[in-house]
Amino acid sequence: MRAIITGVGHYVPDRKLTNKDLEQMVDTSDEWITTRTGIKERRILDNDKGTSYMAAKAAKTVLEQRNISADELDLIIVATITPDMPFPATAALVQKELNTTKGWGFDLNGACTGFVYALATASQFIETGKHDKIMVIGGDKMSSIIDYGDRNTCPIFGDGAGAVLLEPSNDNDLGVEDFILHLDGSGYKYLGMPAGGSLLPASYETVKEKKHFLYQEGKTVFKYAVNGMADVATKIMKKNGLNAKDIKLLIPHQANLRIIDAVANKMKLNKEQVIINIDKFGNTTAGTIPIAMSEAYEKKMMQKGDWVILSTFGAGFTWGSLLLKWAMD
Ligand code: COA
Repeated sequence: MRAIITGVGHYVPDRKLTNKDLEQMVDTSDEWITTRTGIKERRILDNDKGTSYMAAKAAKTVLEQRNISADELDLIIVATITPDMPFPATAALVQKELNTTKGWGFDLNGACTGFVYALATASQFIETGKHDKIMVIGGDKMSSIIDYGDRNTCPIFGDGAGAVLLEPSNDNDLGVEDFILHLDGSGYKYLGMPAGGSLLPASYETVKEKKHFLYQEGKTVFKYAVNGMADVATKIMKKNGLNAKDIKLLIPHQANLRIIDAVANKMKLNKEQVIINIDKFGNTTAGTIPIAMSEAYEKKMMQKGDWVILSTFGAGFTWGSLLLKWAMD
């Protein structure tokens, strides 16, 4: 039994925060942000809404596309680092919004690798025959943990979510073919949010010291991200006997255009083989890959039977690649 993607959709908020807007907020310029990151604008969710709002919107699009009811879902996995609240899980809030009490669900924290971790996890429940329909969602409201007074981090991130439906297929030549996943906890100190967990619960001091915002050592993360993403993507190609020309599309995590270009170069791919939408949305963390996949599907960038590679890197450090044969028409 193979796990195939039978539906894909995404949701991004309407409100745009452009580089020009950021010029009014911090000491930066459109030129600096564009050349260093490739980002022109990002989307910002309303203050009174959480990640579950975007996740449920993306999931509803997929259900409508596939023309099925949420009651048919066996499992909902939400990859996110910005849950609506520490608990209950965002998956519970999404399930409620989808108006069903069927199945089960959980959140998965793999940072920018969250969606790939979730897809790999979900594929196992399908391949074992345990489940028939799994909604895999990746999404983050990064604006909820960004300090809009910090020019080092505020241009990079945005809000958004994407979702796919995973189902079984008897066609052994379609769907999830392989994945290589990594975790190296020694990278924890370079990218994260220091407070708000059990180690450093919210207090007057943690708020005053801005420890509820994302922290990152950009240069270090950049270096590890290029090497990690390129290494794991080329490994999965080699392991499966594929060359650059066999790959229809690379769907990379959208963290920085220079990272994507470096990874594509190392994989010897040309521009047409890579989907890039970082200019419009910035880094939506667990949202980037399913949003990009949804846009690639809308643009008909891959056909049934095409090889597609996902590759990503994130906080932890986490990183990985997933190889699949596209199964939708
Ligand atoms: N506008 C203008 N100047 C800025 C700026 C901004 N928004 N942000 C930083 N700068 C300044 C710095 O202060 C620094 O000035 P200095 O040399 O006087 O100290 C200079 O620009 C260069 O900063 P640096 O951090 O070396 O830039 P960089 O080329 O490494 O780019 C990032 C910074 C964050 C864009 C880059 O490191 C990056 O993308 N890192 C990976 C981020 C990432 O992918 N995170 C998520 C992983 S999943």
